[in-house]
Amino acid sequence: MRARRGVLLLPLCLLLASCATVSGAGRSTADSRVDALLARMTLAEKVGQMTLISVSALRGTCQGGQIAPLNASCLQSELAGAHVGAVLSGGGESPPDNTPVAWAQMTNQIQRYALAHNRLHIPILYGVDAVHGHNNVLGATIFPHNIGLAATWDPALARQVAAATASDVRATGIHWVYAPVSDIARDLRWGRYYETFGEDPFLASQMVAATVRGFEGTNFSTGVSATAKHYVGYSGAQRGLDRTNATLPLRTLQQTYLPSFAAAVHASVGTVMADSGAVNGVPVHASSYLLTDILRRQLGFGGVVVTDWQDIESLYDRYHLATSYNDAIRLAINAGVDMSMVPDNGVDFAHRVMALVRAGKIPQSRIDDAVRRILTLKERLGLFAHPDVNAASANAAVLGAHRALARRAADESMVLLKNQGAVLPLHGVRTILVAGEAATNVAEQMGGWTIGWQGVPSGVSPPAVTVLQGIKAAAGSASVVDETDPARAAAAARHAGVAVVVLGERPGAEGPADTETAELPADQTAVAQAVEATGTPTVVVILAGRPLLIAPLIQKASAVLMAWLPGTEGGDAVADVLFGRVNPSGRLPVTWPRQIGQVPLTYDQLPNTSADPDAVYHPLFPFGAGLSYGVYTTNGLQAAAHGRSVTVSVSVGNAGSMAGDAVVPIYGRADAAPVLVPDKLLIGFARVHLNPNQTKSVTLHLSLQPLAVVTGDVNGSGPPRIVPGPYTIMAGTEQVNVTVH
Ligand code: GLC
Repeated sequence: MRARRGVLLLPLCLLLASCATVSGAGRSTADSRVDALLARMTLAEKVGQMTLISVSALRGTCQGGQIAPLNASCLQSELAGAHVGAVLSGGGESPPDNTPVAWAQMTNQIQRYALAHNRLHIPILYGVDAVHGHNNVLGATIFPHNIGLAATWDPALARQVAAATASDVRATGIHWVYAPVSDIARDLRWGRYYETFGEDPFLASQMVAATVRGFEGTNFSTGVSATAKHYVGYSGAQRGLDRTNATLPLRTLQQTYLPSFAAAVHASVGTVMADSGAVNGVPVHASSYLLTDILRRQLGFGGVVVTDWQDIESLYDRYHLATSYNDAIRLAINAGVDMSMVPDNGVDFAHRVMALVRAGKIPQSRIDDAVRRILTLKERLGLFAHPDVNAASANAAVLGAHRALARRAADESMVLLKNQGAVLPLHGVRTILVAGEAATNVAEQMGGWTIGWQGVPSGVSPPAVTVLQGIKAAAGSASVVDETDPARAAAAARHAGVAVVVLGERPGAEGPADTETAELPADQTAVAQAVEATGTPTVVVILAGRPLLIAPLIQKASAVLMAWLPGTEGGDAVADVLFGRVNPSGRLPVTWPRQIGQVPLTYDQLPNTSADPDAVYHPLFPFGAGLSYGVYTTNGLQAAAHGRSVTVSVSVGNAGSMAGDAVVPIYGRADAAPVLVPDKLLIGFARVHLNPNQTKSVTLHLSLQPLAVVTGDVNGSGPPRIVPGPYTIMAGTEQVNVTVH
């Protein structure tokens, strides 16, 4: 194997005139190496680079959809015949034996076949959805889904989680992840709400940028290419119905939906994935306004635009915008798509593109631009120099790795929403009842995109600490009983000092996870009601990817802990908070409505002339809500504007008896904007560790860009800008005025 690899590399280096071991001279730039390669490529080889197929097109019947060993005839037709340059595993598309080593062997086999069977030995780029850890791989550590990570308000943590995920992904021979989701959560009925970093563009931007940097490392050398998805406006779909049209004023598109993608581009994200939906009646995959004018010219993105699943064909057979599949390909590639996630028939797609180029329907320059970006990405990822991986070390690298980080992430994601009579942290309780099937349901603890696309498949048991296990491990001398039946749970509650009712949501992804109610399944409501009816102090723990609209249960509970979808270490993290080993620091990254009739409900409401202004934003828990076991106070707010920035300082104190991390949001408002603006918008935040009775001064240098507005009339559409004039800066209960000149 070594000899073959040596032979393989030599022509590669000669070709690229690059590898120091061959040329000896100084390395030429990546660009010139890519240009040299591009100049040698045939149209067929170029178009192959623009073709991304599912691994299922390389196995079984080559028609996709089956988990089977790789099939030589599929490899031959797709990789040798059509020069396909990229392969992905969609959600759940694992090798037959779902272990890290089997993943590495699969990607190595594909890589080595491609290198040996294409004239220029261009390596394959393999992609996977690693959206909360290397989540398709059984045994990989699963981190909290993004909505929980957002609740930590800790970008540095998000970066560490992404870096840990990148190391697992690289260990299996994969160099490209379809993460982070950079969409903004606007409607909790949407099935992908939990995949976002919440409803606020600034918080989401900070978490997206940190995650991109965590995935990609300093220069991709040990990282993976991240993907900002799904560009753009995807989460604005009507009623939260996945993949439906989003009617978005361009002012809203610019001020609310684009900033997180701009942050990803600024963090040098390698790829952007287009959104399967449509905006204002135009499918994004056919929009040169979005894919070229905005993404390339306004945001300055220089990387690769990849489609989402089968979305070029959808322009024809779902949207009926294109008159044929060929017409759909012409529309999408000319709009700015560089690579098509076909995903099942790369040969057909490649032939159609070549026919369109030869017929002059797609300019050769468009093809060269796309291929140059793709080759540059592969070059930056080191794929030419190190195309495969040492499969033998994959299990040791991945299995059980990062458990402490996963627990810390889950700890910080917990949001304590209610704690009446300081029932928490639990102390001196002799008997604890743990009720509800979610207390032992790993699938509900992990959520969608875990082993399987829709979540942990039945019969599969990924390593995890359930909530019941976590509580039992932490309970010490207290006895723990557990029940899932309402009557038995009530009976047990009558003899317990406290009842912990664990509520969960069925795992799911995309459209199957859309909801019209956001309520609990009836059987879980019955258990909770039965336990609360006994009068025993009840702690409600929620495992869900969205605020569940269960106000009556919350009203009767003594305490409420939102645990989101905490992943492998979720059980220990819940117990850490319940027993006071961790002082909860999480804050809601979204609004928690009272009932479905308020949805969609976000905190950035505009001034209004409503008869009942309070009714406009009257949630059960507002954006940013979150309790700790201490009391944090902020005072002494000061702010000074300079140019387009503001320097803010404030003192933060811990009046409680426990050390903890205080999250301090800083809000702002443009007081003389030429258009309506919310009373407050997040412009910054700090996370401060405080011992009991300790006070610290926090100083932040913040851009006012989150307060920028798209000027103009109803039809305003250009990039947002920071308008001169008076601004108000807020922290805690204080506010100060500054002026931007
Ligand atoms: C799915 C999702 C996208 C994912 C892709 C590959 O349809 O929309 O988020 O990255 O296909 O699995």
